[in-house]
Amino acid sequence: MGIQAACVLAAGKGTRMHSAKPKVLQTVLGEPMVRYVLRALEDQFAGNIWLVTGHGAEEVQECVLSFAPDAHFVLQKEQLGTGHALACALPDLKAAGVERVLVINGDIPLIESRVLADFAQGLGDSDLAFATITLPDPGAYGRIVRVDGVLHGIVEAKDYDLAKYGPPSGEVNAGLYSISLALCEELLPLVDNANKSGEYYITDLVGLAIERGYRVKGIVCGNNTALLGVNSPLELAQAEAMLQKSVNHALLASGVLLHAPESVRISPFAAVEPGADITGPCEITGRSRVCQDARVMCNCVVRDSTIESRAEIRPFSHLESALVHSEALVGPYARLRPGAELGCRSHVGNFVELKKTRLGEGAKANHLTYLGDATVGAGTNIGAGTITCNYDGKHKFQTHIGENAFIGSNTAMVAPVRVGDNALIGAGSIITRDVPDNELAIARARQKNLGPRRNLG
Ligand code: UD1
Ligand code: CA
Repeated sequence: MGIQAACVLAAGKGTRMHSAKPKVLQTVLGEPMVRYVLRALEDQFAGNIWLVTGHGAEEVQECVLSFAPDAHFVLQKEQLGTGHALACALPDLKAAGVERVLVINGDIPLIESRVLADFAQGLGDSDLAFATITLPDPGAYGRIVRVDGVLHGIVEAKDYDLAKYGPPSGEVNAGLYSISLALCEELLPLVDNANKSGEYYITDLVGLAIERGYRVKGIVCGNNTALLGVNSPLELAQAEAMLQKSVNHALLASGVLLHAPESVRISPFAAVEPGADITGPCEITGRSRVCQDARVMCNCVVRDSTIESRAEIRPFSHLESALVHSEALVGPYARLRPGAELGCRSHVGNFVELKKTRLGEGAKANHLTYLGDATVGAGTNIGAGTITCNYDGKHKFQTHIGENAFIGSNTAMVAPVRVGDNALIGAGSIITRDVPDNELAIARARQKNLGPRRNLG
């Protein structure tokens, strides 16, 4: 009988993080920790993944559903310990016909499906199995106690009695278990909270199961960094540094050019093609895609954005959910907000902000401009200081500018408004009415020269 479902323990507060944010939502290279755990489970357990949530349950569920819409949730109202968390999930797992469940802590962000596959290989005919790693310092991990080489149980760090068990071996519990539901049903009710933390420990199942003659197995996963838990800011930083190194190493090996790679932070969920050229410090996260020969220069932040071939993102630019087509130039100091789409060979220069705006092929907005809820036709030039006034305090309105138009500097376009193809707008205009194709529009007070200036002195 193989494993049929996975249960992620994700209800804890993460007290040692000193943060209001639920621990499993703390990010590693821009992605919540729990996302890494779910990604590792995906191959083997798609459709059969349960999460126990509690602290910040709504927030955790909303986040999880954004990338795992078929996940199931169980609420652990009070966080009484990992054993209690599993007990909360038991009725649902049983109702779903699950006979054996893979249980995993939600705070193991470096986990990979490869490690889960290794673990599965070692299960044999066990009723209860858990993964162990050996650390130079067992720290706050549950210690594996073997008496004369025979597995005796897991003793949590706080409850470890040196006099009784001797110095710990360094072999610790990694927080990954495979358990038959029959065993859970029999033994979970026997787990008590008579320990230093006053919590119901999942790890007590091990000793109980051994006493009752169940087949229990500790599966050694070596000194495996993939199974390190994250409980504190320090551990989070360490996990992030390890992941950053391995992501960048893989990218370099695949042919991506990374300059100052130690300061390049790329999420493993982003796609970067060989031949892309990226200079640190910079951050590329979410579902970003950087194509071959695209360039991202230093001090850029790119999230959920696509940068096509030969496009160039110059220093200090900020992109979120933007699409930059090939050979477009962005920045320095540009801001592309969600829904910004830059046509091939278009330019967006310094201190230009775009939101829900499409720039046509070869169009240019090079200086000090805000374009929101707008379309700009191919070949159009947007002068310095142009603003689309898209918001009246209640609603947003559209601005449409045709092809090959020329918008003079310091123009305000009060939406909704249309400017036709080949139209020309004089500098300093406030455009409140549509401008037909090919027309010149000027909307500003006429200049008066009032004779010699008075001597103010
Ligand atoms: C746990 C193990 C420890 C192991 C370590 C590995 C127990 C008692 N101890 O310790 O043996 O070495 O993981 O990293 O299990 N959670 C709930 N509900 C709760 C409490 C916790 O869902 O009531 C979740 C947390 O959100 C977390 C996971 O369970 O994702 C583990 O809890 P945590 O408090 O981090 O346990 P550790 O002290 O790390
Ligand atoms: Ca932990």
